[in-house]
Amino acid sequence: MLDFEFAKQFLKRVPLIPRAHGLARYARFRFDVAKANWVEARLGEAEDGLPVPSPELRYRVHGALDRASFFTIGRRCRRDIEGLLASVGQDMGRFEHVLDFGCGCGRVLRFFRDERGMGRLTGTDIDAEAIAWCRENLKSATWDVNQDLPPTRYADASFDFIYVISVFTHLDESFQFAWLEELRRILKPGGWAILTVHGKSLHGALKEDERKVLDQKGFLYKVDQTGRLKLDGLPDYYQTAYHTQDYVNQQWSRFFEVVRQVDRGICSNQDAVILQKK
Ligand SMILES: C[S@@+](CC[C@H](N)C(=O)[O-])C[C@H]1O[C@@H](n2cnc3c(N)ncnc32)[C@H](O)[C@@H]1O
Repeated sequence: MLDFEFAKQFLKRVPLIPRAHGLARYARFRFDVAKANWVEARLGEAEDGLPVPSPELRYRVHGALDRASFFTIGRRCRRDIEGLLASVGQDMGRFEHVLDFGCGCGRVLRFFRDERGMGRLTGTDIDAEAIAWCRENLKSATWDVNQDLPPTRYADASFDFIYVISVFTHLDESFQFAWLEELRRILKPGGWAILTVHGKSLHGALKEDERKVLDQKGFLYKVDQTGRLKLDGLPDYYQTAYHTQDYVNQQWSRFFEVVRQVDRGICSNQDAVILQKK
């Protein structure tokens, strides 16, 4: 019997087939976006009373076009961040300045607006369109566009707490190290950070050869779509990364104290890595 994976790899080598496949996928995506826009125009106000980003902006942070899952996950992230902070004796309400790094269209940050006693909130992302939408519609925070690589515009030791949901799950090693260094710079001494990774509960879905790289190196950067037909419209470097716990302990401890890695700690999916700047 012909092995399905072998057949797929063979077809990929016939030059026109991947291109036709990419075009078909893109055309299908545009159709789905048009359909989601049609549905969106018929939906009422959002559950939190705030404006709602378009399906396409939601897709960029979320990989899905529907409104309901955008809210479910955003709300759940807030709850999980609070729980993770509580597990190390911290409380969002005590921080003077909090940064959501790679905030997209504010899926998570919008849920922190009513946190009692909390100081300033800032969100930053490379996605200028998402940030323009946030500036216009989510007034409880200030918003910045950062470049693909550091530095940000923030002074040293600006933040008490930085959370980074589903960003280091998409960067290669050189971007990862550059941003770890920058996050360390802008965090106050003693400050806290929570970053997420695709941890061991998500490694089972990898192919054998990918798994081998991950097991050997502790890190895997998997390239899928690139170029103009990339559905999320984000830069080509934005792909999918996987980390082992040993790798995080060894490599990230060059920048922070790795306090704890919580298996599936965010939305019962990605691992949450709790870091402190000593
Ligand atoms: C999966 S989305 C998650 C968005 C948001 N953290 C959330 O949970 O809703 C990843 C985000 O990382 C952003 N991103 C990618 N590279 C970045 C970089 N170099 N600096 C800042 N943000 C980046 C993308 O634009 C995108 O908004």
